[in-house]
Amino acid sequence: MPIQPEAYTYSNTDQTSPEPAAGNAQNRSAAELAAGLLDDKAHVSPKYLYDTLGSKLFEALCLLPEYYPTRTEDAIVAANMASIVRAIGPEATLIDLGAGNCAKAERLFPTLRPRQYVPIDISREFLEQAAAQLQPRYPQMRITPLGLDFSHELALPDSVPAERRVFFYPGSSIGNFSPDQASAFLRRLRDACGADGAVVLGVDLIKDAAVLQAAYDDALGLTSAFNLNLLRNVNRLLGSDFNVADWMHEARFNERAQCMEMHLKARRSVIVRWPGAQRLFERHECIHTENSYKYTVPSITRLLSQAGFAHAQTWLDGRNWFAVVHARAA
Ligand code: AVJ
Repeated sequence: MPIQPEAYTYSNTDQTSPEPAAGNAQNRSAAELAAGLLDDKAHVSPKYLYDTLGSKLFEALCLLPEYYPTRTEDAIVAANMASIVRAIGPEATLIDLGAGNCAKAERLFPTLRPRQYVPIDISREFLEQAAAQLQPRYPQMRITPLGLDFSHELALPDSVPAERRVFFYPGSSIGNFSPDQASAFLRRLRDACGADGAVVLGVDLIKDAAVLQAAYDDALGLTSAFNLNLLRNVNRLLGSDFNVADWMHEARFNERAQCMEMHLKARRSVIVRWPGAQRLFERHECIHTENSYKYTVPSITRLLSQAGFAHAQTWLDGRNWFAVVHARAA
């Protein structure tokens, strides 16, 4: 059946989009990347892991036996679909933060039947492909993909209804923020969702360090490839000359912070150059690329209430490894 233009609302050239022109976004990325690389302890935001290849590598590592979060979250959602959908309620505008391939949200659609689906991802090309494949399967549902960096920009265009906004932030991506940053981010979600809004979070829970270590340093080396690919994305955005072969993946558990960290460690002393600057990295010097904080149910509930969300409802797996949490605007 041909797709009706009215039904096929998939569009990313929305005139009301707050997204800056590609050039501005690229300049902002370059400035942000350069600042992080020149810091005493070099760091790059984990959002730069997700170019098109990085998004595919992430998709692949979710299939690893060691990487439990995705399949644990999927099992929780599958086992509690009716009760999760009841908590969200009808006619939701489902805003999917870091939608990637949109697969997690899609599992909710047959039962939830949202009024509108708004997948947001920094990897615009990957998102557009995913949204284009999704639309024919749900011809009645309006899909409004937004290729934007929601860590900077949460102003939603007029094409996103103001009513019943539900921010869907699965996969424990909230763990990429420190607890203070997470609290500030949740407060921004609270401001953006209005009085009848809500959040649905996937949260990775504190567990045995060996389980965490294996999940972030898998035997096949997919997490290593995922981490190293960040350097290729940095080269593209910054015009730097990182040689991937000079670096190695390192996953560390920060016991004190209950946080899994990813770093890229120089195999030898290297000079990295980019327009306007350069940096020498000593042998074994590291670039910090990701934090993945782990929570408890009480600690995430406290964070939500500090940010203006109440009535938290939590669903867990049998091992208490992962939580799906729904909370309403207070
Ligand atoms: C997508 C941020 C939830 O922290 O587990 C996977 C990304 N990093 N393997 C995570 C990731 C290393 C992931 N999040």
